[in-house]
Amino acid sequence: MRGAAITLEGVSKTYDNGLLALQATDLGIDAGEFISIVGPSGCGKSTLLRIVADLVQPTQGQCLRPGEFETGFVFQEAALLPWRTVQKNAELLMELEGYRAPDCAARAAEALKLVGLAGFEKSYPHELSGGMRMRLSLARALALRPALLLLDEPLAAVDELTRDVLQEELSALWKEAGFTAMMVTHNVHEAVFLSTRVVVMSARPGRVLRVIDVPFDFPRAPELRSSPAFAALTGEVTAALRHPVAEQVSA
Ligand SMILES: Nc1ncnc2c1ncn2[C@@H]1O[C@H](COP(=O)(O)OP(=O)(O)OP(=O)(O)O)[C@@H](O)[C@H]1O
Ligand SMILES: [Mg+2]
Repeated sequence: MRGAAITLEGVSKTYDNGLLALQATDLGIDAGEFISIVGPSGCGKSTLLRIVADLVQPTQGQCLRPGEFETGFVFQEAALLPWRTVQKNAELLMELEGYRAPDCAARAAEALKLVGLAGFEKSYPHELSGGMRMRLSLARALALRPALLLLDEPLAAVDELTRDVLQEELSALWKEAGFTAMMVTHNVHEAVFLSTRVVVMSARPGRVLRVIDVPFDFPRAPELRSSPAFAALTGEVTAALRHPVAEQVSA
């Protein structure tokens, strides 16, 4: 499967209450890229993701999504249905999209295997750890075989070790499946480890401050995290995030 290409042209969003959440944003995303979005809390990252998902309409500008394809969305909260088994939770989005029951079952089972949850099909969400719930949320989106996967701080709620492991697994999955990924995160290391490019946004109303290329080869080994080149790039992203603060201080 090939990933979707996305183009944002002058996209801005003012919510009904008059709040300007996002300023004119231009961004071109190639098929199969992994883009991370970092920026201060409230700067419009989730708004941007929801516009790309077509869940929110921009006030100005447009988001071009050429072609017909499935979009998977992994929310910050796993948002699982507690009365459904792991298998039935994994089938949910396909079911809502109107897929035939046997296809839902087969593809959900395949996605659960991909995220390492085979054997837990009959469990219920409350019987899973936080990391496993996250995996289930990911499986639910992957079952759609999305050409575009949108992730809103998917790993924020898991401990650091689990987070590292999940990052490596997510990176491998993305490489193998070929979808385009767009992920919001507050973690600069995570953004650099996973991405082909990191988008740095300003404080609200958000705008794109910088787009930073991440030149490391894939697959990315865990050792990358302790390399000087990795430290230099995370330093560059952090500096870009702090840039507007420095401006304010010197003004
Ligand atoms: N449905 C809505 N109606 C009105 N205002 C909203 C709505 N959704 C978000 N906002 C406002 O828009 C701004 C951007 O919100 P958004 O959720 O996109 O930020 P964010 O960058 O994802 O923040 P965080 O990092 O805290 O998740 C915030 O000030 C928020 O209060
Ligand atoms: Mg958000």
